[in-house]
Amino acid sequence: MSAILTVKNLSKQFALHDQRKTIPSCANVSFAVEPGRLSALIGPTGAGKSSVLKCIYRTYLASAGSLLFRTEAGETVDLAQASEHEVLALRKHEIGFVTQFLHCLPRKAAVDVVAEPLLVRGAARAEARDNARAMLDALNVPERLWEVPPATFSGGEKQRVNLARGLVARPRLLLLDEPTASLDPRTTDKVVEILQGIKAEGVAMLAIFHHPDLVERLADQVIELAPPVVHSPLSEAITQ
Ligand SMILES: Nc1ncnc2c1ncn2[C@@H]1O[C@H](COP(=O)(O)OP(=O)(O)O)[C@@H](O)[C@H]1O
Ligand SMILES: [Mg+2]
Repeated sequence: MSAILTVKNLSKQFALHDQRKTIPSCANVSFAVEPGRLSALIGPTGAGKSSVLKCIYRTYLASAGSLLFRTEAGETVDLAQASEHEVLALRKHEIGFVTQFLHCLPRKAAVDVVAEPLLVRGAARAEARDNARAMLDALNVPERLWEVPPATFSGGEKQRVNLARGLVARPRLLLLDEPTASLDPRTTDKVVEILQGIKAEGVAMLAIFHHPDLVERLADQVIELAPPVVHSPLSEAITQ
């Protein structure tokens, strides 16, 4: 099976203009992601794991390198160069991102928050809500909460709603950034089961997991990022 995403020499730096400094994040990262396989990004805190996912989702614009995505239509799009319009269309139909936290907390019932990605893709409302309920149930969100807006939920409940929303639709490429960091072992096992099912359906996944145990259980490929090299004026003075 050929790659759905090929990352070549991806680097990201952040320019702090007021301090005239740059903060390095990921540097020279290359790998390929294939359908039906889960690739895990590992490395110490600050190695740039989240930045790689954000460059792919285009929350961040890559500083250098290419991110070649093969679309459903068979075209190749460089996510480092694509227009905003192209990126929004891909987010809607082909690329999903489950972040660690539920960011949007509108005054919408949890079931509707979860159903939204299906509605955006054109599903009928009743069917979308049925699927959303099934996913909330699978992730052990108590039924009494389904019609309640998640704004007042506990951290763990919000994370389950967030995961349900991210997993209910089937993008072709799914990005996951520590999606199980605050879940209990029973719900984590459920997530592993659901991710295995999604994998079997042919979805390509690129994931960061908090626990090495999950990498062991789910990853078909492990990509290790090295910590960034920081050039301080002092170390430069010593090496010069
Ligand atoms: N928006 C940002 N502005 C400035 N620096 C950032 C930003 N996002 C990430 N960084 C920096 O990039 C480096 C890598 O961060 P991150 O990608 O979150 O790493 P990881 O997920 O591996 O812990 C860190 O030094 C972090 O402070
Ligand atoms: Mg991170």
